[in-house]
Amino acid sequence: MTQLGVVGGGTMGAGIAEIAIRAGDDVLVLERDQAAADAARARIEKSINRAVSKSKISADDAEQALARLSLTTSVSDFADRELVIEALPEIEALKVGFFAELDKITAPTAILATNTSSIPIIRIAKDVADPSRVVGVHFFNPVPVMPLVEIISSLATSPEAVATVTEYARDHLGKKTIQAGDRGGFVVNALLIPYLVDAIRMYESGYATKEDIDTGMVNGCGHPMGPLTLSDTVGLDVVLDVAESLYDEFRQPHYAPPPLLRRMVEAGYLGKKSGKGFYDYAS
Ligand code: 3HC
Repeated sequence: MTQLGVVGGGTMGAGIAEIAIRAGDDVLVLERDQAAADAARARIEKSINRAVSKSKISADDAEQALARLSLTTSVSDFADRELVIEALPEIEALKVGFFAELDKITAPTAILATNTSSIPIIRIAKDVADPSRVVGVHFFNPVPVMPLVEIISSLATSPEAVATVTEYARDHLGKKTIQAGDRGGFVVNALLIPYLVDAIRMYESGYATKEDIDTGMVNGCGHPMGPLTLSDTVGLDVVLDVAESLYDEFRQPHYAPPPLLRRMVEAGYLGKKSGKGFYDYAS
């Protein structure tokens, strides 16, 4: 059993917390205030109840898993965590500041992992006294379903930290792991995001309808979702942040976010989580 701390109970943080409590860990999720903590708990409970209704987990196991979940609004409660996985929004300054705080609170042996989608790990570790304990552990959405975890080592990450999180993700959580170097987007998002923003550009230009773009990729290439539906699933704010980060890293036009993507995020159309994106999800 790992004493795991998860920072942020949004889509990714809640998913990570869920699979960890289901794997037997003691999980503490940090949120910014009580309302956000309550929302995170509700998100995790809803997903576990869905697993119960699909007979993927028994009601007893679900109850025991939820008993291993705690939420807090105080970072000082992370003092006893052996592993912390940060799943804050993709705002570099926010992550850097948070890791500096974690550095002071956690034991020097604790591993500090980030679920960043695209920001180089060494930049997040900038204000950590011993950056050898900072490592990238990147999950995919929906976390309970997608098998992959990317493990990213910065130039300073220790082999021990890499080995610990690889064993945790692979042997304990049952995920498939791959290793990536410390470059914006790592392996998957460096390939996926240009494809998603290209699809948005195609739609924006009026060249094809959103339905035809999605139908094309589902039926022509066997993808489980078309790129506009997938963008709505990932969250348009996340797609925008990752595209910005990739553009910042490589300065190549095909990473640049199209104006339509920016306008949708500015309008609050974030995809499934906000009820509206390229499609409507109001239920
Ligand atoms: N939580 C838990 N389980 C879920 C779920 C969720 N949010 N969404 C779907 N599922 C489960 C369902 O319960 C179902 O399980 P079952 O087959 O055992 O009954 C199974 O997944 C299939 O779901 P559905 O039948 O409802 O729907 P689909 O067949 O369309 O599958 C999907 C849904 C698994 C999400 C599939 O469409 C898919 O694989 N889409 C692509 C997702 C993807 O590419 N993710 C990566 C995004 S990139 C990323 O996350 C990186 C980030 O940094 C940007």
